Amino acid sequence: MIDIHSHILPGWDDGPQTLEESLRMLEIAAGYGTTGIVATPHANSQYRFDAGVIQQRFHELTAAAGSLIQVHLGCDFHLSYENVQDALQNPCKYTINNKNYLMVELPDLVIAESARGILNRLRSAGIVPVITHPERNTQIQGRLDTLNQWVRDGCLLQITAQSLLGRFGLEAERCCHSLLSAKMVHFVASDAHDCEDRPPRLDLAYRHVAQHYGAPLADRLFRINPAAVLTGDPLEESRDTPPTWIDLKPANTRRRLSSIALAGGVIFSAFIVLVQWSRAGTFHPATPPSIALRLHRSAM
Ligand SMILES: [Fe+2]
Repeated sequence: MIDIHSHILPGWDDGPQTLEESLRMLEIAAGYGTTGIVATPHANSQYRFDAGVIQQRFHELTAAAGSLIQVHLGCDFHLSYENVQDALQNPCKYTINNKNYLMVELPDLVIAESARGILNRLRSAGIVPVITHPERNTQIQGRLDTLNQWVRDGCLLQITAQSLLGRFGLEAERCCHSLLSAKMVHFVASDAHDCEDRPPRLDLAYRHVAQHYGAPLADRLFRINPAAVLTGDPLEESRDTPPTWIDLKPANTRRRLSSIALAGGVIFSAFIVLVQWSRAGTFHPATPPSIALRLHRSAM
């Protein structure tokens, strides 16, 4: 398996703080069947993407790792104005192995239309945006139609292995399954940060996908597609079978119906309480004074 999203460079971002810890993470990855891993340090307001220092840490790590596992370099690219301007000027600076795939993290507050425009600008510069863990973005997890539009534009989606296993909550887990059922997922990656809480393991998620969706899909998401990213080749499925659109309206409709039912229940309960009050002719001490006064005046 190949893991295209990890925070594994020593002492750089919110990943491991020492070379020893980085190496332990690589040992875990290799021990559970990962043969290649991409170090994707953050490029956001908190962690600046200093290409010189990052290259230095990357070479330290690859030298120490030896033949244990193949380590590659990319970036966890935050979709900010400054980042996008820089990427448009230097398309290969942030991409995986300096090819054409870029891991793109959406901001917490997503304005769908403007995000779509920015993603399309990146694509027009020859960059293929791989949107990272959309299932963990609370604004996006309910907007699968928006994601589908972006996929149809040419973006790709990466979900996090631990999301599939419930680590990031029920909604994220459900979103993963909605996306998998709609054939909108292109990669599963670890987004590892450490050895214990967010380790670089793909084996459990691979088994989960193989069990629920079949081994061929698991192979595609964990092996075949990530291998194409490393070499900069197009994905097989985008050559042969474009993502299948499954109408996700039923899920949205269900959500809307449950909201309507909830609102109806509240209104009905309020009506029953008012009827009981008016029949009793008196008011419970807990009745808000303004309501009690209005009802009392109308009864006069
Ligand atoms: Fe990340």
